[in-house]
Amino acid sequence: MSSIDPSIGPDRARALFRAELAEVRTDAELQALRTRWVGRKGSWVAAFMDALATAAPEIKKSLGRGANELKKEVEAAIAERGAALAATKRPANAVDITLPGRAPVLGHRHPLSLIRDEVIEIFTRLGYQVLEGPEVEDDYHNFEALNMPEEHPARDMQDTLYLQTPLMPSDPEMPGDLKGSPLHSAPPLTLLRTHTSAMQIRHMEKHAPPVRLVAIGPVYRRDNLDLTHTPMFHQVEGLVVGKGVTLADLKGTLSAMAEALFPSTRADGARSGQAADFIRFRPSFFPYTEPSAEVDIRCFKCKGQGCPLCKRTGWIEILGSGMVHPAVFEAVGYNSEEVTGFAFGMGVERVAQLKWGVDDIRLFYENDLRFLEQFGL
Ligand code: DAH
Repeated sequence: MSSIDPSIGPDRARALFRAELAEVRTDAELQALRTRWVGRKGSWVAAFMDALATAAPEIKKSLGRGANELKKEVEAAIAERGAALAATKRPANAVDITLPGRAPVLGHRHPLSLIRDEVIEIFTRLGYQVLEGPEVEDDYHNFEALNMPEEHPARDMQDTLYLQTPLMPSDPEMPGDLKGSPLHSAPPLTLLRTHTSAMQIRHMEKHAPPVRLVAIGPVYRRDNLDLTHTPMFHQVEGLVVGKGVTLADLKGTLSAMAEALFPSTRADGARSGQAADFIRFRPSFFPYTEPSAEVDIRCFKCKGQGCPLCKRTGWIEILGSGMVHPAVFEAVGYNSEEVTGFAFGMGVERVAQLKWGVDDIRLFYENDLRFLEQFGL
């Protein structure tokens, strides 16, 4: 802004005023402009009036006219701009639609839901059906039909939570899908299922082979809370039954799953499809499979070199599996001379712990947002 200098004359001052007016955006700026140009003291017009007092007589008249015209013009232009500013002013309480919106805070998917959905995605792509099934079970489906008769030592492997009062078939809380099973039509439910393997029986007793299913959901055991145990956790059960199903099918299926769940599992340079590169079977025992195997994946952290995660073995155990025992087929009325099958059971929490390096299982249940917010949307 140039300093006030009446010697430049009213015409050039007018041009200066127009330039300054063009910059005005607010009422306050307009007010400042008014003071500067037509204020009582120290303004341009006041300076012209002062100059008039000492001006030579021959220019007095034209200087006086020029100063007056300038004053009128300035006042008119300021009034006009004032009106224009007032017209664009938004009314009180108006909504400013130019403000950015308030972004809603999005929640995060629970890590266990992410794993569950990933597993479902993998197996639906392979043509499996997905089941859930009841969490309150009876002895028959949870143990007996799985080749674990009452005195079977394998029942001790799973410390079971029994219901104080069994849920009777007539009970309104009896899950609807439990009615009408051909062999054991809605027996009383006595326990919380200790594994999803009960769903193998529930499905096969109602459906003829072939079978290709995964069952996912909560299971319950009498465990105290610690780093690796919770009385409720989740399992994925897999079951495939048909003509000519072999151990090789089990291995191929599980390696496809392991590769999809832990993409970095495969040893560097290994070609896709070489199952031996990233899973291995260790002989094991489950009453409902023969032979049985525990399955390890190659450590995805060290790629098999040996690190603390895999306890320097290069391998990490992820699930139990095997070929369906003929006694299980007998229990559901399948002809074990005609069909064979494989089954597997895997802990959802265990997969999540491995995948994200979570060393305390309790974190999945404490609802601490600082933990939960680290996972996907
Ligand atoms: N039910 C077993 C458990 O809870 C896991 C399991 C092992 C499931 C072998 C299976 C299987 O279907 O074939 O530890």
